[in-house]
This record gives sequence, C-alpha cells and structure tokens, in this order.
Amino acid sequence: NTNILQDQFGREHSYLRISLIERCNLRCSYCMPEEGVQLSPKSHLMTYEEIYAIANIFVKHGVTKIRLTGGEPLVRKDFPVILNKLASLPVELSLTTNAVLIDKFIDVLKENGVKSLNISLDSLNRDKFKEITRRDQFDKVYRNILLLIKNGFKVKINVVLMKGFNENEVIDFIHFTKDLPVVVRFIEFMPFDGNRWDISKMVSYQDILNLVNDTFKKDQIIRLTDAPNDTSKNYKIEGYKGQFAVISSITNPFCDSCNRLRLTANGQIKNCLFSTSESDILGALRAGYSIEPVIEKAVKSKLKMRGGMNTLNKLQNPERHNNNRSMITIGG
Ligand code: GTP
Ligand code: 5AD
Ligand code: SF4
Repeated sequence: NTNILQDQFGREHSYLRISLIERCNLRCSYCMPEEGVQLSPKSHLMTYEEIYAIANIFVKHGVTKIRLTGGEPLVRKDFPVILNKLASLPVELSLTTNAVLIDKFIDVLKENGVKSLNISLDSLNRDKFKEITRRDQFDKVYRNILLLIKNGFKVKINVVLMKGFNENEVIDFIHFTKDLPVVVRFIEFMPFDGNRWDISKMVSYQDILNLVNDTFKKDQIIRLTDAPNDTSKNYKIEGYKGQFAVISSITNPFCDSCNRLRLTANGQIKNCLFSTSESDILGALRAGYSIEPVIEKAVKSKLKMRGGMNTLNKLQNPERHNNNRSMITIGG
C-alpha cells in the first residue's frame, strides 16, 4: 500500500486547498486582469457531491487539513452545504476569504467547527482599499474582521505588498496587532497570468525587515518559531497581543517543506501554485474511473521547486512564457 501523497522528493502532502468558485465580489488587480477571466461553464465546476467525494479520497490517503478558497468561497450559493459535508471528515477546516460576506456566515462557521480564517486586506485606508479592489467595501471588511475576533476565531490577515502602493502601511499594520490578537502576514507580490507582475513592484522580505528595524528597537522585535510547513516567517513586537509575519515565496521560497496540493473549482489537481500542467481528477470521477491513480500521478510529477528565482527566471525568459492561471482561479 504505497503512499500516493508522497512525492519523488519525500514530501508528504497533508494539506489540500480546494477552490470552490472562480468568481469573486472584489476585483483585486494583483489577482485578476482588469477585463476579468474566462469563467468555466457551470457544468465544468465540481458539485458539492463531487467536492466531497474527491476530498474524501484525499483524506483517506492522509490529508489532515483542508482550506477552502476561491475566487471568493462565500460567493458560492451552496457554501454551507459544502462546509457541512466536509465537516464530517476528520480534518482541520479553514478558509481564505475577503470577509465581505462574513457577517452572514458566523453561525455556519461555528456550527461546522471552523476555528481559524485567513482574510485578505491590503490596506487600512478606505480609498486605497477601493483602488486595489475596485470596490468600496472597506468598512464592511474591517467590521467583519472585528466581528470574527469578537467571536473567538483565530484570524490571520493577508497583506500583499506592492511598491509605491501600500509599503508605507507596513508599520500601521503592525500597530494594528498591538491590541488585537491577529496575525498580519505581509506577502511578496507573486506573478500570475494577467496581473502585470514586475519585480520592481515587489516589496521583499528584506525590505519589510528594514522598515521594521527603522521603527522598532532591536530588542522589541521578537523572531518566533515557525510551525512546520508554515508559509510564513513569524515575528511579534514585545508586548503586542498579535503577531506579524512575512510570506516570502519569491526571495525565500519554502518548497522544501511544501505539503500542499490544490484542487481547482473545475476539478483539476495543481501540484504546485506555479505548476503549468494540471490533472483532470473531475474528468476521471465523472467517467467512473478510480481517481487514486490521477492523484498519484499528479503528486509524483511535482517538481522540486517552482517558487523563488525559478519563477523569476522563467518569466524573464521570453521563450518559456508563463502558462499558469490567473490567481483568481487558483485560490492562492
Ligand atoms: P495557513 O494554513 O494559515 O498556513 O495559510 P496559508 O498561508 O497556507 O494560506 P493563505 O490562503 O492564507 O495564503 C497566504 C499566501 O500564501 C498567499 O499569497 C498564497 O498564495 C501563499 N501560499 C499558500 N500556499 C502556498 C504554497 O504552497 N506555495 C507558495 N509559494 N505560496 C503559497
Ligand atoms: N501575490 C501574492 N499573493 C497573492 N494573493 C493573491 N494574489 C497574489 C499575488 N499575486 C493572496 C491574497 C489572498 C491569498 C489567497 O493569496 O492575499 O489572501
Ligand atoms: Fe509548494 Fe510550489 Fe509553493 Fe514551492 S512554489 S512551496 S513547491 S506550491
């Protein structure tokens, strides 16, 4: 009985990210092209029964954590049904959301054992929020983050940093952790189809540390221990209730300890965030085939490293242009 979730490099995949939907109620420029993306026809999207059937097989083979993503997962009409089905599996369930709709789902989340959520929020300034998301929903998102904290959920805030746009908010975001038990995670801007990535727009891990060192005294800045398979390098300011962290997929990739697999809303396994080939697990399921071989093949063909400079080199070589999706149809 071979371990189908172990790759050629010995990495065990115990974390599955499932994208529920390609649509979103915001329009973040780093995530999707202005003109939008070509959406899959509805018949190509996994139904909740199919999501459950596929997740169940992954769990049988060792997945212990499932994160629901999108687009925006809460936009999907049958979100409560999906959550309820998945809650019957022995996994830690979480989601990554923009929090616009969170107030309507507090009870559903509690009833289904969700304990932690990752929220995207790139600015603490209403106008900037509107500029990046192309929607005027800052107040709602902010209120919903406070509501989650009040209700005892563990909250991480994802901040994608872009040069000349929000790097000047790094310290404001860290101050936000003074009285609130949240983790603010600064993310290096990554390249995806249609997001006009350019290395000069990226704020690096080192840039962030420089900003922090300019503001706080050395002995106020505490480097925390990272959990195994953590995407982030974790810190806190002495005496603050919350923490901050950096996700440095470009300058400091964590591919060696990668334990993630992705399932897209249209039923394709992506073995890496930056993978350019996918495996049609939904097609196999619908055709009545066993899906284990599809999973095994996807895992065994995972490359050693696609984060970091690999990605950069690929993009900078015009002959090998990037063939990935837009982030909105991957889910982070
Ligand atoms: P936790 O489960 O709390 O550790 O969350 P997470 O960091 O895995 O997920 P989240 O959806 O909050 O994503 C935060 C950022 O990390 C996003 O920019 C993701 O694209 C990025 N990220 C998540 N997983 C991976 C990964 O496997 N590889 C790379 N390179 N980036 C990832
Ligand atoms: N680079 C880095 N992070 C991104 N995200 C979306 N697009 C990008 C990008 N181009 C992050 C969002 C969201 C998470 C799932 O992925 O902050 O919270
Ligand atoms: Fe895993 Fe790919 Fe991310 Fe590296 S770039 S950590 S291999 S998903």
